[in-house]
Amino acid sequence: MDKTSVLFVCLGNICRSPAAEAIFKNLINDKGIANQFIVDSAGTGSWHVGKEADSRMRIAAKQRNIYITSKARQIRQDDFSKFKYILVMDNSNFNNVIDLKNRVKGSDFAEILKMQDFAFTFNEKEVPDPYFGGDAGFDHVLDILEDSVSCFLKNIT
Ligand code: 4NP
Repeated sequence: MDKTSVLFVCLGNICRSPAAEAIFKNLINDKGIANQFIVDSAGTGSWHVGKEADSRMRIAAKQRNIYITSKARQIRQDDFSKFKYILVMDNSNFNNVIDLKNRVKGSDFAEILKMQDFAFTFNEKEVPDPYFGGDAGFDHVLDILEDSVSCFLKNIT
């Protein structure tokens, strides 16, 4: 059976998308279905490539038993043929990813989806960028991602 491939994308790949990746991995591990998935995250920007996730996000996540271990990378052209689902955090990410997809041959495989279209409890239309804000912003991002990531998984299984 082919694995289902999921890529979470934000701007820097150090706050929102690595958190979404870790939440998704926890859920599929808990359900015993991790072997059915390929999961990764990436940023549209390149400033933080190779870095660990922002320590404020790692600390906030750890308090919920979510361990973020990924290193930042930038989205690549071949992601559009590798990943079935590309989930973006906000409208700016969406526009940037669509622009890139339109320039890549053979990119039809990937579906570009907005993370918050799957939210059930939270009705914010974007996952807000917490980078320039205070600690509460990181908890808020985790709250809304725990909602929308689990609803996305239910949607595709
Ligand atoms: P992320 O947050 O897109 O959720 O990883 C950001 C990280 C870094 C920057 C902006 C947003 N930055 O401007 O460096």
